[in-house]
Amino acid sequence: MLLTGAAGFIGSHLAERLVGEGHEVVGVDAFTDYYDPDLKRANFAAIAGDGVDLVEGDLNDLDAESLVREVDVVFHLAGQPGVRASWGESFGVYLDQNVLATQRLLEACRSASTERFVYASSSSIYGDAERFPTVEDDLPAPISPYGVTKLAAEHLCRLYFRAYRLPTVSLRYFTIYGPRQRPDMAFNRFIAGALHGNSLTVYGDGEQIRDFTYVADAVSATIAAATQGQPGLVYNIAGGTQTSVREVIETIGELTGAELRVENRDPVAGDARRTGADTSRARQDLGYSPSVDLRDGLSLQVAHAQGNGD
Ligand code: NAD
Ligand code: UGA
Repeated sequence: MLLTGAAGFIGSHLAERLVGEGHEVVGVDAFTDYYDPDLKRANFAAIAGDGVDLVEGDLNDLDAESLVREVDVVFHLAGQPGVRASWGESFGVYLDQNVLATQRLLEACRSASTERFVYASSSSIYGDAERFPTVEDDLPAPISPYGVTKLAAEHLCRLYFRAYRLPTVSLRYFTIYGPRQRPDMAFNRFIAGALHGNSLTVYGDGEQIRDFTYVADAVSATIAAATQGQPGLVYNIAGGTQTSVREVIETIGELTGAELRVENRDPVAGDARRTGADTSRARQDLGYSPSVDLRDGLSLQVAHAQGNGD
């Protein structure tokens, strides 16, 4: 199996599970500087060992044909994440890492015997969705440049199925959290603030809602998609916990016992007011059933940040 983005937050959890299940995994990662590459090296060190090899390099430079030649399943998680950072000059990086790299990998798979190509798409493709819970066939209308690139890559996956029968499956992950969460994401920042006595920055009024998803549940869905995902389809993958940022902060306060100071800043362009998924399709086809509720997941992430978790 090939796993791109193997040293990232979600990729490192997926690699760990695949290896634990006895699969041979080739991981690819460029250790990009979106956040501290040393954190990615630590992610990978936590999982390295028998069963996982690493190819260090950029998908836009590597020989993609030889990467996919002997591989049955491709999990494509490499990309430039982050909704709020995708404006301005950085957009070129989003295009390179999310659109061009995906097209290159898909093109390479055309002439390989790829049985499934599983792509990590995003709830950000919905923007401010037309209704809740949002179903996969609702109109995608991203409100961030990042979302535009994730949707473009998702369309490419569908096109390669339509034109060449490459069995692609796209998973729209909804705000994933848990140990090793990226340092730019809300829970990581809030927990660090709580543990170190720093104030928490909230963009807007804190009433924005997310369908937060625990990383182990996203991993289960991703592995199921490799065998049970219907080629050419997209699936919502969400935790079923539609919760506001304000409520999350309250729970972190309870779990850490810390007195939290919140600083409200202006809302940031690109941020959706609310996300919330209908996951019926994933439940039916992938047997998806999220098993970690928000309080339990948050306490696992807090324990990890305190050095008591995996
Ligand atoms: P991450 O930044 O921790 O992991 C991505 C990894 O991809 C990084 O280690 C990076 O070095 C690597 N990478 C980037 N461009 C590359 C390239 N051209 N070649 C090789 N490696 C490259 O991010 P994450 O949060 O683990 O997200 C993984 C994927 O899931 C991304 O595609 C992201 O868009 C998507 N996603 C994440 C979330 C979330 O809540 N974290 C939600 C929806 C979708
Ligand atoms: C997350 C990921 O970062 C994206 O890569 C991914 O594509 C997206 O989920 C998705 O679901 O598709 P986001 O929902 O913005 O994006 O996740 P967080 O960074 O954890 O932010 C959650 C909310 O908290 C946002 O409204 C954000 O504005 C807010 N926030 C974040 C703060 O108020 N303060 C912070 O310090 C950080």
